[in-house]
Amino acid sequence: MFLKRIVLSLFCFHVVLGKTPEIREDVRKFPDGFLFGVASASYQVEGAWDEDGKSESIWDHDTHKIPSPIDDMSTGDIADDSYHLYKRDVEMVREMGVDFYRISLSWTRIMPTSFPDKINQAGVDYYNNLINELLKHNIKPMITLFHWDMPQKLQEMGGWTNPNIVDWYGDYVRTAYELFGDRVKYWITINEPTQICLYGYGLNLLAPRLNIPGVADYLCSKNLLLAHARAYHIYDEEFRASQGGNISITLSAQWYEPESELYATASREYLQFDSGVYAHPIFSKEGDWPSIVKEKVARKSAEQGFARSRLPDFTPEEIEYVRGTSDFFGLNHYSSYFVNMDEDTINSYAVPSRADDIGVNVFKLNEWVLSEFSSTDYVPWGFYKLLNYFREEYDNPPIFITENGFGTYYTGLDDDERVTYYRGYIGAVLDAIDDGTNIIGYTAWCLMDNFEWTKGYTVRYGIYHVDFESPNRTRTPRKSAFVYKEIVRTRSLDIGFEPDTSVMTIDEGH
Ligand SMILES: *[C@@H]1O[C@H](CO)[C@@H](O)[C@H](O)[C@H]1NC(C)=O
Ligand SMILES: *[C@@H]1O[C@H](CO)[C@@H](O)[C@H](O)[C@H]1NC(C)=O
Repeated sequence: MFLKRIVLSLFCFHVVLGKTPEIREDVRKFPDGFLFGVASASYQVEGAWDEDGKSESIWDHDTHKIPSPIDDMSTGDIADDSYHLYKRDVEMVREMGVDFYRISLSWTRIMPTSFPDKINQAGVDYYNNLINELLKHNIKPMITLFHWDMPQKLQEMGGWTNPNIVDWYGDYVRTAYELFGDRVKYWITINEPTQICLYGYGLNLLAPRLNIPGVADYLCSKNLLLAHARAYHIYDEEFRASQGGNISITLSAQWYEPESELYATASREYLQFDSGVYAHPIFSKEGDWPSIVKEKVARKSAEQGFARSRLPDFTPEEIEYVRGTSDFFGLNHYSSYFVNMDEDTINSYAVPSRADDIGVNVFKLNEWVLSEFSSTDYVPWGFYKLLNYFREEYDNPPIFITENGFGTYYTGLDDDERVTYYRGYIGAVLDAIDDGTNIIGYTAWCLMDNFEWTKGYTVRYGIYHVDFESPNRTRTPRKSAFVYKEIVRTRSLDIGFEPDTSVMTIDEGH
């Protein structure tokens, strides 16, 4: 996960938030067939960054820079050491009793040259061992093919801004389907494109930190969508018949609530620039970029003296190639924002930039902060609104929540804020289901504390605590792990449930 922390607005005010459900105290059941899981990602947990033939990714490269761009100057060189401790990870997944474990593959571990000319057997063995260990215990692996760790060599050739990435990525994913697709039935092509393109290419908040706003981010978006579509078509045409799995992309989307009715348009436009840039080309009936995004960027580009829109066009063939390339709607969600049109803020945006193209002010409320130690704001009604928005906007697609979770600035086991967050947000999922929104699965981020990108180890998201000082990276369940386990066991939410946190068990019946 990654969320940019926006400076809290200091003024407080009261607005009618529209009809949002109260937190309910009755025990509420999930529909039959609903899937529960936990997640992690390769660079954040594996460690072994240069072991057994693995080559350098952009995150290895970024964390090894001097001076370090990471808040605590840490790296993922060892992280949770899951490369060696994966059996303990699977044991924890079994303790949670979940249906699936979402992991990601490291491209540079499997293909050290970035290309299929050389397959690294040690890397393949690692993923085979992990997948087989899960299946032995009846846990489904869900695999993200790209969770940000681009091969450094490909980055030096432009990464997502080079149109050849569509071929390179296609070759990589074909190899992954060939190697693992006999046992893997849930694939995510790319994790969080907004964060990749905006924070990594438009700004300097994530690797590769290109910081070319309003230009590199839009080029990234186009090539990334074409690469996603390539991965979908390869699966669909060459593997689906024999392997029978499902595949889609995962978007990180937050909710943008208008401060008042005056800003309803600002809210809609912000949503189109944020999640719509990826969702509209794939999930809408007509495909292509959202029209408001095309219009605004084209107009600003012309005013600014560019020879053409900074947002690259799709050809009609490309629109068709991308449209409909999903078996479900993968969604990561963390928090919400308010929007208005505060001119001082809008006039302060860099020109050109995506922020300037949108021309909307985004802010948070102090009352959403659960404690001085929380790094994620608590706005469960925003999740409810977002889920229902996607139902209406994209004709009720099956939504698979592939990440949702809470960050803290403390390491302790009594994570009451995280428990509050999970209860509120899982309640919001049930509220949206009650309204007819088609939600098929839920994933807690994260199984365990790990390397949180630019924040290093300063922010913890784990339902398991990890002791990064111990050689074994000792993992210990937090209170939230016990609470989540009970939700999964009973397939229902009882917000009054108080766990006995003295013993963690594995239900062998699973
Ligand atoms: C894939 O999706 C289809 C259609 O929703 C569904 O029938 C099938 O069971 C899914 N496959 C898996 C492995 O979940
Ligand atoms: C680390 O794990 C190994 C294998 O489980 C165990 O034998 C050893 O005692 C552990 N070391 C520490 C310091 O916990």
